[in-house]
Amino acid sequence: MNRLSLGHWALAAASAAFLAAAVAAQQPAAPATPPPAAKSEFKNLKILPAGIPRQNLIGVMQMMSSSLGVKCTFCHVGTSKETMDFASDAKREKETARMMLTMVRRINEEDFKVANFTDSKVTCYTCHRGAPHPLKAPPKPGDKPAEHKHS
Ligand code: HEC
Ligand code: HEC
Repeated sequence: MNRLSLGHWALAAASAAFLAAAVAAQQPAAPATPPPAAKSEFKNLKILPAGIPRQNLIGVMQMMSSSLGVKCTFCHVGTSKETMDFASDAKREKETARMMLTMVRRINEEDFKVANFTDSKVTCYTCHRGAPHPLKAPPKPGDKPAEHKHS
């Protein structure tokens, strides 16, 4: 899988707040190579950049969680703060999320010709709308669209 470039990590950042934090975090001229400490902070990144600042990674995680309406444990192994193993790939949902990140990048780049991540048209929220399973069918005439019940 291709890793997201530093300019791409936030393409899925649905909210302006996350985008603002991302841009702000990139403002001070970042060293070309991240310091060794930053490089080794996360153990198992295959899509996000290896040297991504913690603040930006957490921003992406919070954006994905709120887009799907789930907690961290939907994708990550563990039952409490002490037992969380964020680097583990044991959960199928985590691997699906990697595929989704790649898909979202591809849609923005190839279909919408988005050159800059801040202009992204499609995010996790575009489809998920606060639920793990996006709806397939529009509401029938007379149905209340606000209900938006998911399986
Ligand atoms: C929808 C699935 C999903 C949710 C929900 C989610 N994550 Fe993640 N998380 C991922 C994926 C996918 C990766 C790996 C990204 C990659 O390969 O670049 C990851 C990686 C991480 C890592 C890096 C682990 C390492 O050392 O490699 C941390 C830390 C993390 N997540 C924390 C969180 C926290 C805290 C939350 C809740 C606020 C959360 N995640 C919610 C999917 C998710
Ligand atoms: C183009 C629409 C679309 C976008 C954008 C999208 N998804 Fe999805 N996602 C889907 C569909 C459709 C499914 C359900 C697939 C199925 O039912 O087999 C799904 C399923 C998932 C699942 C599995 C849920 C489960 O219960 O196993 C995860 C996790 C997920 N998406 C994460 C994400 C994340 C994270 C993003 C943003 C990076 C994202 N998706 C963006 C359409 C989308």
